[in-house]
Amino acid sequence: SVLEMEVEQINKGNYEHYMQKEIHEQPESLTTTMRGRLIRGGSCKSKSVLLGGLKDHLKTIRRSRRIIFIGCGTSYNAALAARPILEELSGIPVTMEIASDLLDRQGPIYREDTVVFVSQSGETADTLQALDYALENGALCVGITNTVGSAIARKTHCGIHINAGCEIGVASTKAYTSQIVVMAMLALAIGDDTISSQARREAIIDGLFDLPSKVKEVLKLNKEMKDLAQLLIAEQSLLVFGRGYNYATALEGALKVKEVALMHSEGILAGEMKHGPLALVDETLPIVVVATRDACFSKQQSVIQQLHARKGRLIVMCTKGDAASVSVGGSCRIIEVPQVEDCLQPVINIVPLQLLAYHLTVLRGYNVDQPRNLAKSVTTQ
Ligand code: G6P
Repeated sequence: SVLEMEVEQINKGNYEHYMQKEIHEQPESLTTTMRGRLIRGGSCKSKSVLLGGLKDHLKTIRRSRRIIFIGCGTSYNAALAARPILEELSGIPVTMEIASDLLDRQGPIYREDTVVFVSQSGETADTLQALDYALENGALCVGITNTVGSAIARKTHCGIHINAGCEIGVASTKAYTSQIVVMAMLALAIGDDTISSQARREAIIDGLFDLPSKVKEVLKLNKEMKDLAQLLIAEQSLLVFGRGYNYATALEGALKVKEVALMHSEGILAGEMKHGPLALVDETLPIVVVATRDACFSKQQSVIQQLHARKGRLIVMCTKGDAASVSVGGSCRIIEVPQVEDCLQPVINIVPLQLLAYHLTVLRGYNVDQPRNLAKSVTTQ
């Protein structure tokens, strides 16, 4: 009806699509996610994290033998982005499970495990069934959802709401970045009693405080990403290479492109390049390489050189000021992003790829907010 259409236009504000609105509101959604949870200053401890929903369970989590992340789609990718910092700050082995795969295998879960269920909607059938399975096996179950009162929020023993605000676009954007931030805060909370990592934790907390303004800065690439989309509009395929903290960026960037722009896209772990993907490289296939500054930077530089040697059509995402150190022979297209603490860099790096997927979709004439065949919340198996 006309009324429904008007209400929708009001909800979208000045934006044409929900996905566009949700990409651009990430500085605000991230602020809401962190509100009241980061403590800077104070008498005894200078900086720390407060997660009310976990406080009675933190001791049990610290004593667990293994932490298992379970999710589907974008929520799985968010957990993958947070995995390295969780391993670093907790010292506990962290493993990853796609919910349906765990169920297919009936993989072992023990009482000594902490299982973290990540789901924007809190209603995804596979994730919910994996939760029932973990509960039956006696594990401590933690929920990370965006939906208060959802099935996963109710059935888990404890949890953290991401508070990103209602997400309407089928392709998850602001929930992804808020999920990463919540899991980084989870890592900080678990590691809170370790003196040796205090300086590292404080640097991450400072990084979290700065994150919304850095996201605002990276959103200025909107026009540049639209131009890039124009260039890629008729491509059949797009590869995205990443590693370390940004392996997840590669998977999530590719997922955005395939689900909304309906273009084949694959996220590739750069360390696996020589074990297959290199065979695809020629002068026509576009390849995004995420090569921002962190401990993996020199390895990514050599990946770029090897792709260039095979005449790869490279689009390199690098830290501001690094264009010259990544552009072999001055032939790559460059996306320069602001630098943040390494474990938070995936929050920044996904934004240009969200924008690219959005503009590709609009330019190719597809439905942005409701891609064909997909649903926001998959409640059947
Ligand atoms: C569907 C949606 C995706 C989402 C996935 C997991 O496939 O289209 O955007 O990432 O479900 O959903 P959840 O609500 O569990 O995060």
